[in-house]
Amino acid sequence: MGGRIQSVTTTFAIILVLLGTACDAQLSSTFYDTTCPNALSTIRTTIRTAVSKERRMAASLVRLHFHDCFVQGCDASILLDDSPPTIVSEKGALPNNNSVRGFEVIDQAKAAVEKVCPGVVSCADIVAVAARDASFAVGGPSWVVKLGRRDSTTASITLANSDLPLASDDLNTLISRFSNKGFSAKEMVTLSGAHTIGQARCVTFRNRIYGNTSDIDAGFTSTRQRGCPSLINNDNNKKLSPLDLVTPNSFDNNYFKNLIQKKGLLQSDQVLFSGGSTDSFVSEYSKNPTTFKSDFAAAMIKMGDISPLTGSAGIIRKICSAIN
Ligand code: HEM
Ligand SMILES: *[C@@H]1O[C@H](CO)[C@@H](O)[C@H](O)[C@H]1NC(C)=O
Ligand SMILES: *[C@@H]1O[C@H](CO)[C@@H](O)[C@H](O)[C@H]1NC(C)=O
Repeated sequence: MGGRIQSVTTTFAIILVLLGTACDAQLSSTFYDTTCPNALSTIRTTIRTAVSKERRMAASLVRLHFHDCFVQGCDASILLDDSPPTIVSEKGALPNNNSVRGFEVIDQAKAAVEKVCPGVVSCADIVAVAARDASFAVGGPSWVVKLGRRDSTTASITLANSDLPLASDDLNTLISRFSNKGFSAKEMVTLSGAHTIGQARCVTFRNRIYGNTSDIDAGFTSTRQRGCPSLINNDNNKKLSPLDLVTPNSFDNNYFKNLIQKKGLLQSDQVLFSGGSTDSFVSEYSKNPTTFKSDFAAAMIKMGDISPLTGSAGIIRKICSAIN
């Protein structure tokens, strides 16, 4: 009798320890099921409305999650504004400045969620869910978003400048930047497929279209030069061109077909198919949109797992751009 009670007690203790560990360290798709059952539908409504107003917003929101997760992990650090002397915003970092966008949409989603369950849902989770909803809204894959991330109380412009990739990166640099975050070369190629949607500023690809044109299609070069004048000035620098000229507003595998035709817009796009170790992945995705989409979903889930703050680490911000 005493033995049975002891063993029940022991089993119970073990279960508690396991549950405790799970809550502390792991994200879960059901995290808000009891605390905020309408969180996901509320976010989705905001994202759908924003994307139907402006298709490009889908691209911007997918990228926002990427630029959040690669810097200190998926902790919404990218959303923080300057707050001297403690916070120097990541928004001013070279890969983000005058470039990363979607902050107002995240703020809208946060405000809507705060109305239904104040103080419960993190900005980091909203960014992760927004990226998924945005992908799906323009024909991309959907996936189950793991939840339970908490928001940082810090930002790092230094890490934003060192850890995010640049359009001028060569293949080895891209492979190592993604490897630093736990991704294979193939997953780096998969994730680059996000460039099937969205826009780039002239300043990010001018060197490519006016430089050594051996790895760029001639007709494509002249088309792209019309949208991006060689004369360097502020007005010209910010002129926008679609990353995928063929279907800029649909999430498809055209990006990879473009690369095979030497029609990658950024240098960092074309190096993925330029006689190197990643050519085979580009070929595979150019032939198989279904594989691309399912690999993309898996890689985005993996991205969402980068160093989250969980348990009692971090905070739930009341507004996403500032510490409570
Ligand atoms: C492989 C390394 C990558 C480099 C070097 C890179 C670089 C860039 C650059 C330079 C732009 C244009 C920004 C501007 O002109 O302001 C851009 C846009 C974009 N990037 Fe990347 N990127 C990379 C990977 C990714 C990944 C992994 C994702 C998401 C999974 C992503 C999603 C996007 C999207 C959707 C846009 C368009 C954004 C918009 O229209 O607002 N990129 N990227
Ligand atoms: C960001 O760009 C703006 C406008 O071009 C510029 O004035 C500002 O100094 C830049 N910010 C940083 C932190 O470099
Ligand atoms: C242009 O680039 C190609 C391949 O990247 C290289 O083989 C060639 O030497 C370069 N040409 C010049 C003039 O730099």
